[in-house]
Amino acid sequence: MASRLERREAMKCRICDTKCKQFLDLGKQPIANNFVSKSQFDSEVFYNLTVHFCPQCFTIQLGETVPPAKVFNENYSFYTGTSQAMADHFKELAVMINDRFFLPIADKGKWPVMIEIGANDGTFLQHFSDLMKLHDKPTCIGFEPSKSVAEVAKKKGVRICGTPFEKHEFPGVGNWPKTDVIVSANTFAHIEDRRGFLKNIKKVMAHDGVWINEEPYFGNTIDRLAFDQFYNEHVFYTSITSMARTLEMFGLHIDSVEFLWTHGGSIRYFIKHGHADPGPLTAFIYRSIHSNALETDPWETLQAFGEKVQGRIERLQSDLRGLKGPVVGYGAPAKMSTITNACGLGPETISKIYDTTSAKVGKFSPGQHIPIVSHSEFSKDRTKNVVLFVWNHLAEVMAKEGGRKKRGRKWILPVLEY
Ligand code: TYD
Repeated sequence: MASRLERREAMKCRICDTKCKQFLDLGKQPIANNFVSKSQFDSEVFYNLTVHFCPQCFTIQLGETVPPAKVFNENYSFYTGTSQAMADHFKELAVMINDRFFLPIADKGKWPVMIEIGANDGTFLQHFSDLMKLHDKPTCIGFEPSKSVAEVAKKKGVRICGTPFEKHEFPGVGNWPKTDVIVSANTFAHIEDRRGFLKNIKKVMAHDGVWINEEPYFGNTIDRLAFDQFYNEHVFYTSITSMARTLEMFGLHIDSVEFLWTHGGSIRYFIKHGHADPGPLTAFIYRSIHSNALETDPWETLQAFGEKVQGRIERLQSDLRGLKGPVVGYGAPAKMSTITNACGLGPETISKIYDTTSAKVGKFSPGQHIPIVSHSEFSKDRTKNVVLFVWNHLAEVMAKEGGRKKRGRKWILPVLEY
């Protein structure tokens, strides 16, 4: 215990070096998207999943992380395109960018330039295939270090740079066209080297360019006690205040925000060069900040949240273990790894998990080793109790599976209904 406390005291903010305060401990956890085969059971890597708050810049961050190369490599198994709703979301984003940013640039007779950071399987950038064919013009490129997903993107005709964005040197930035639009969706929160990332945004963004950054909004995580959002890939958790304070240190500012349904409640920031006006923030940002306790009273809110999460873990544990009859899981997202490992739920409680990602099927869940089976078998399974680990895709799943009542199933939502 003593050594753990010492480690906590030494934890410094990754942005401003201030001593952080811990508000949650989810114990030893495996790498969340690292689905394993039997031969890998004994060589799994575990880390301590603790979450901390910086009282200076308000950044919420993990205590311990896993080196990026152990996560974003040829085994990375999150494919954006596996959710139709997410694919539709990115199509809408592409249309919005085209109408709002690209058309005015084209009207001036120029070629728009865009970067996506964390391009994954090309679900978003594929909508700009015409731009990407123009190899002689500065156009459009995705940064994606995870080879598994990048290969899929390349097959869709997406141009990929395999170096992590935050490490890319952009030799002779003069030769690199200044970027009109930078997009990152569920990427910025993953990058431990946040300083390197922001320095490169500053370097490559045109003076009147925009960085559109989407990520789960931590206010929603708190409201829903969605503790499954914590896992090794998410190093940082967003509040508007922490984002504003961080950007300020790098000569950037929030121009506007929008709230989104994705990932159980996300926020989209439109970020530009320069400092925010010394006057009041835009009315919408101001209202958003003042309507959430995370923004107004972060430390009190986080402490209370940490305590409630421990209570939810105990309830989930006893409820799922106490169910009559067998239990199966639906969807094997990274979030499932946090829940099953925090609650200590293995195959004796959840016999298998159905998933649509072929790279996961035939393997076992990280840490608890629950078998992952193909979603195509689900319709034949008559098990009544189904834990919906992809609760954030509830509408899509219910539409696909014929609604809640079909086959007399009891759908258990580990987050939304707890
Ligand atoms: P998601 O919540 O998008 O991801 P994460 O928490 O990992 O960021 O869930 C993605 C996983 O869920 C992926 O393995 C595919 C699986 N899935 C299904 O099996 N069926 C479904 O209907 C959906 C929407 C996802």
